[in-house]
Amino acid sequence: MHAVRTLGAMLFAVIGAIGTARAADGSVRFDESSKTFRLDAAKVTYAFGVDDKGQLQSLYWGPRLGVSDRLSAAVAPAPGDAIDGNINRVRQEYSGWGSGLYYEPGVKITFPDGNRDLVLHYVSHSIKGSILSVVLKDIERAILVTLEYEIDADTGIVRRSATITNRTSTPVIVEQANAATWFLPRSRDYTLRFLSGRWAAENSVNERPVQPGKTVLESRRGTTGMQNAPWFAVRRNDANETQGQVWFGSLAWSGSWQIAVEQDQIEQVRISGGFNPFDFGYKLDAGASLATPSFYAGVTTDGIGEASRLMHRLELTKILPQAPNPRLRPVLYNSWEATEFKVDEPGQIALAEKAASIGVERFVMDDGWFGARNTDKAGLGDWVVNRQKFPNGLKPLIDRVHVLGMDFGLWVEPEMVNADSDLYRAHPDWILHMTGRPRTEGRNQLVLNLARADVRAYLFDALDKLLSENDIAFLKWDYNRSWSEPGWPEVAPDQQKNVYVDFIRNYYGILEKLRKKHPKIEIESCSSGGGRIDLGVMHLTDEVWTSDNTDAFDRLRIQDGFTQAWTPAAMMAWVTDSPTWVNNRALSLEYRFLSSMQGSLGLGANLNKWQPQDFATARRLVAEYKAMRKTVQQGRLYRLISPQGGSEQSATESVSADRAHAVLFAFLHSSTEKYPYPTVRLQGLDPDAKYRVRAIKGKFDERTPTTASGAYWMNAGIDLLLRGDFQAAALAFDEE
Ligand code: GLA
Repeated sequence: MHAVRTLGAMLFAVIGAIGTARAADGSVRFDESSKTFRLDAAKVTYAFGVDDKGQLQSLYWGPRLGVSDRLSAAVAPAPGDAIDGNINRVRQEYSGWGSGLYYEPGVKITFPDGNRDLVLHYVSHSIKGSILSVVLKDIERAILVTLEYEIDADTGIVRRSATITNRTSTPVIVEQANAATWFLPRSRDYTLRFLSGRWAAENSVNERPVQPGKTVLESRRGTTGMQNAPWFAVRRNDANETQGQVWFGSLAWSGSWQIAVEQDQIEQVRISGGFNPFDFGYKLDAGASLATPSFYAGVTTDGIGEASRLMHRLELTKILPQAPNPRLRPVLYNSWEATEFKVDEPGQIALAEKAASIGVERFVMDDGWFGARNTDKAGLGDWVVNRQKFPNGLKPLIDRVHVLGMDFGLWVEPEMVNADSDLYRAHPDWILHMTGRPRTEGRNQLVLNLARADVRAYLFDALDKLLSENDIAFLKWDYNRSWSEPGWPEVAPDQQKNVYVDFIRNYYGILEKLRKKHPKIEIESCSSGGGRIDLGVMHLTDEVWTSDNTDAFDRLRIQDGFTQAWTPAAMMAWVTDSPTWVNNRALSLEYRFLSSMQGSLGLGANLNKWQPQDFATARRLVAEYKAMRKTVQQGRLYRLISPQGGSEQSATESVSADRAHAVLFAFLHSSTEKYPYPTVRLQGLDPDAKYRVRAIKGKFDERTPTTASGAYWMNAGIDLLLRGDFQAAALAFDEE
């Protein structure tokens, strides 16, 4: 133990001499005298330090501090009492499970000799470019943990991850591995906000007070899931959409995950997140390392709305594959709701012609084009063109789509098989299963075990062939069930649980390799709607499918929840038929367009049933959308009136990055008792600039000036003349 501390002190002396490192992208500093690390960027300071025992202590996370402010971790807290022990009072930046720790640890390990005690102390650190790495080591055994930190210059969002390395001579089992633990200032004054949902009802916004005990947000499904999103926000009780302090964060992982928010007996609040520890047991061979996902988190004093905008900015400039300059999403057409599995060459060409006539830029053929896929009961896994439906392959359709001036996209669901498929008949062992146990189906399908090298190779080859043989610009990558019986019988029993990590790493690996080999390809992550949305998949896919629920009124709430965490640029929203299959609700075509135009616009209606006036409306609104889409997709979103909680109204506003343009969308659920629509006051404009207002749809009070200052629109506001049921308006504000 002594030797380790001495080594730590020596390394401090050597590396500390490097002193302050100004990273290109945010600032990382180490102060030798107080042994503290400080990350500063935008409006944020994050700090931690090494105490006299060699423990890493969290020191500060909040609004930016003065450059000369000194923080100190020097002395470990005195023992509180015999029951709780000193270790539980220390704000440990990243802890091993050992020494009587009762809260969520960073990492928990079982050694082959039965030892399960792990106590991590500082060994060394380095600063390379914008990345700070801090190495911790167990006080006795050769288990090393390297913590990685990076602060984003634009947003002050900190990225943290941990890599656990086994330098002992035997394998160990990692039973829990978090990316990070974040501490909030000690207080009772917190409310947790989180997202929950189910199929066709994603992204409900929930709040609950942070109280003694623990709230666990999680997925145990092998995939991200729509039951909770891997995102949290904790606000001061007096914070709201527009003001007050909010801490927020999100995990970049598409497998089973956990975020735990704990308040302990002395009112310390910890937020930790990483792999879900349930059924977790990663066999880490001698010499091997396990890297956790990254956990991104930020803080603002400007309310939940600003917390969301910071997340959106991070996604646009750092996460999405084309960051920092993601291409604007093309207006797409998708065949699913129009034709379901009944796709064929003439039918798709007829839809493509109609789609092109209204300004659609990408034509996507959904499910049904391959194998014996006439229902959801057969064919999944057989990625060969169905020759009854497409006698000459996909080329004639793709060529026609190109002649019509659009690019072509195709639906796939690579990780799944129907039992009734050639692939499953040939390889019944390729799926997740446990020997001798039932193979539970979901939507008549089974999950391929992508952790297996042969399955990974097969899937890459199948997709690579599809993209090499056909001129495909876009894949809609679907994933329509959660895991069951997550077994991997072909490997030794103590390695089988590695499936939770290896599967996802291989999924990411295929996406990376495909993108590299086909650099122009764009991909949408879909999972029965919004079941696979997280910062991990967003790094490798260009957009996500928000929900199978395309009812334009339901979507207002789902989209409001979506934008708490995720950028509208990635939020695909189709205009579909009315009445909807979801609720049998009838909505005007304009209402449906305006609901979808708040994100990335698509169409999914059966255009064969449209009347000439529908095409005229669509043509006009698609053109309007193209003019505003940079503002909507890449501008700043202000949620002016929330649709949550059965609200009668809702309104959003998007402001372009240079504040020269804004677009307002307003919706009325139903008029009651002759109440006028509330005055809408805009946000985020330049108060001194002059903006001209123009109605894209709807009317406003005739006394409204056509041109007024940003200050006017933000304070006097605008009175919309919205009356009746399911009404919608959209206004453009352009600087003169
Ligand atoms: C899922 C998707 C839908 C559609 C169908 C096809 O449900 O979310 O958009 O692609 O699969 O089977």
